[in-house]
Amino acid sequence: MSTLTKRVSLTQYLVEQQRHHGLIPSQLRLLIEVVARACKRISISVNKGALGDVLGSAETENVQGEMQKKLDVIANEVLIEANEWGGHLAAMASEEMESIYVVPNRFPQGEYMLLFDPLDGSSNIDVNVSIGTIFSVLRKPEGGAAVSEADFLQPGTAQAAAGYCIYGPQTTLVLTVGAGVALFTLDREQGSWVLTQDKLTIPEDTKEFAVNMSNLRHWAPPVTRYIEECLSGSTGPRGKDFNMRWIASMVADVHRILTRGGVFLYPWDKREPEKAGKLRLMYEANPMGFIVEQAGGAATNGHTRIMELQPTRLHERVSVFMGSKNEVERATAYHQEAA
Ligand code: AHG
Ligand code: MN
Ligand code: MN
Repeated sequence: MSTLTKRVSLTQYLVEQQRHHGLIPSQLRLLIEVVARACKRISISVNKGALGDVLGSAETENVQGEMQKKLDVIANEVLIEANEWGGHLAAMASEEMESIYVVPNRFPQGEYMLLFDPLDGSSNIDVNVSIGTIFSVLRKPEGGAAVSEADFLQPGTAQAAAGYCIYGPQTTLVLTVGAGVALFTLDREQGSWVLTQDKLTIPEDTKEFAVNMSNLRHWAPPVTRYIEECLSGSTGPRGKDFNMRWIASMVADVHRILTRGGVFLYPWDKREPEKAGKLRLMYEANPMGFIVEQAGGAATNGHTRIMELQPTRLHERVSVFMGSKNEVERATAYHQEAA
């Protein structure tokens, strides 16, 4: 069936998943539709740019000690407002909020918990380069009355769904509910998400890596070894020339990898040795890792599968190697050899 001739909407896709595969209870379906609607609103703000007064700094700092951009704050508010009243959620957590946001008493409490990076790639907002939203869905543990931060500390393998939206030349939504990865494109005239690709797969091999090369001198030896071997090209141990891309928006870099293969690295570095990495486990690495694995790729922290890591803090950081399976396995093996 060509998805281009017969248009399948996000709603239809979700209903079919629910009917045929029993994968999506109705609360989860509502949740995904609400997140997609919120992304549509964020997309409209992103598109307005200077005309909507959404560029520049908000002059506030988040819990990570990073200066917030206006769009970081706007996207966070849009996601909370959209999700708090529907009865599908018990609580939310965000890169931009220190503590969890429990659904207020005036609304019914649902079975799910939502985590998000409302605006990924903040440094690209003002320069008109692709940015995105990343989200991860967990189930509220059974029993226990009030939802707490400890309820969120579940490994990535427990995710019920994960996705990201890219605000780029096209606005696209990539989603997994654990049965492969589907891609939806926003039809602005119709205001609807249309399935434009199903069952995305990442080639196992690649000749393209994505890493912030300016950090090379700070990396651990296995990472330097891996990248230097790529750089030595066809006359080096890899016997082939590699290309490099670095957009500095994880959503856009990982999306390219989902489209044509590649490997994405954000490793630990010795400038801040106490931090496991730059990226956050619960709302960046876990959802992206789930999507990448569902597309046949791999995701590790250099030692362990990311989705098997037991989080100890909401805003925990992690070292990230994800994308084409054979490259991730190679980089991981270099860490094991070094250990
Ligand atoms: P965020 O904007 O949510 O803080 O995330 C930015 C992340 C990620 O998207 C990207 O891969 C990385 O930071 C870019 O880091 P560099 O500035 O080191 O290139
Ligand atoms: Mn981010
Ligand atoms: Mn962010």
